[in-house]
Amino acid sequence: MTDLAVTLPGLALKNPIMPASGCFGFGQEYGRYYDLNELGAIIIKAATKEPRLGNATPRVAETPSGMLNAIGLQNPGIEVIMQEKLPWLAEHYPELPIISNVAGNTEADYVAVCEQISQAPNVHAIELNISCPNVAHGGLEFGTSPEAAATLTKACVAVSQVPVYVKLSPNVTDIRPIAQAVEAAGAAGFSLINTLVGMRIDPKTRQPILANQTGGLSGPAIKTVAIRLIHQVRSISKLPIIGMGGVSTAADALELMAAGANAIAVGTANFSDPFACPKLIAALPDELAKYQLTDLKSFGLPQEGTHD
Ligand SMILES: Cc1cc2nc3c(=O)[nH]c(=O)nc-3n(C[C@H](O)[C@H](O)[C@H](O)COP(=O)(O)O)c2cc1C
Repeated sequence: MTDLAVTLPGLALKNPIMPASGCFGFGQEYGRYYDLNELGAIIIKAATKEPRLGNATPRVAETPSGMLNAIGLQNPGIEVIMQEKLPWLAEHYPELPIISNVAGNTEADYVAVCEQISQAPNVHAIELNISCPNVAHGGLEFGTSPEAAATLTKACVAVSQVPVYVKLSPNVTDIRPIAQAVEAAGAAGFSLINTLVGMRIDPKTRQPILANQTGGLSGPAIKTVAIRLIHQVRSISKLPIIGMGGVSTAADALELMAAGANAIAVGTANFSDPFACPKLIAALPDELAKYQLTDLKSFGLPQEGTHD
């Protein structure tokens, strides 16, 4: 038996694979297709203080090796998430660790949502989304400045009952000062990476395809960028990293881990294959066996408390 277990602050994972925020809703639809208990954890869709309808349509477009999205953080709001979505997950998957993605327009919004959602008994960690490229307020304006990122992180860490992982943006010149500032502000770890800002134009109308004009690029097209940024952050920090960006196979997952990720989130791959996560988990033992390994720890992952 291959041991796929990974331990991170707040998270004892039986395997390192989890669906990425925004690509799995709150699990209810995918739960009709397979047993979500197979997953290491799930990262649920961004929670905001008020319900959000998101941006106008069209808000997704295909690209070679990926997709553009400008959903705009559509979600039912913290009250519905606390009263319906999280209890549904607790009832059906009592052992499944949940990471709550949190977003807001202002620092006060983020703080209020972190405080409330971190009290839910089945929320084991928070993923602070300071990197959404598709909203006018509260996304990149926090994620592209070390000072703003640190101030927000500190305020959220102060009220959260669970460890706070900060989801950094790839849309910066140098990610390292932002990672350092967030670490100094008390983050338990990082999530890397969110989407890259992109655009498509319809040659017939000469107009942008997305109503929002620009969107976030995800999928295989961004895997090499994710690897570069994970490697850069790993070179300056020992905090755990949940790596994501273009992962669809076990080999992709191990490549991000070799760059420094401790666990892996899978986003866009779920849209082309709803079974992407369970297939990847099933393939991990054979992928490790290629390197004569029977557990993930021996792959060279920085383990909590043991790396120096
Ligand atoms: C349709 C869609 C919606 C997303 N919504 C969120 C979100 O609500 N919060 C967030 O932090 N990231 C969101 N993301 C970003 C993903 O969680 C992930 O960071 C990114 O897509 C890179 O991984 P991938 O290449 O495996 O998709 C979204 C991505 C997509 C494609």
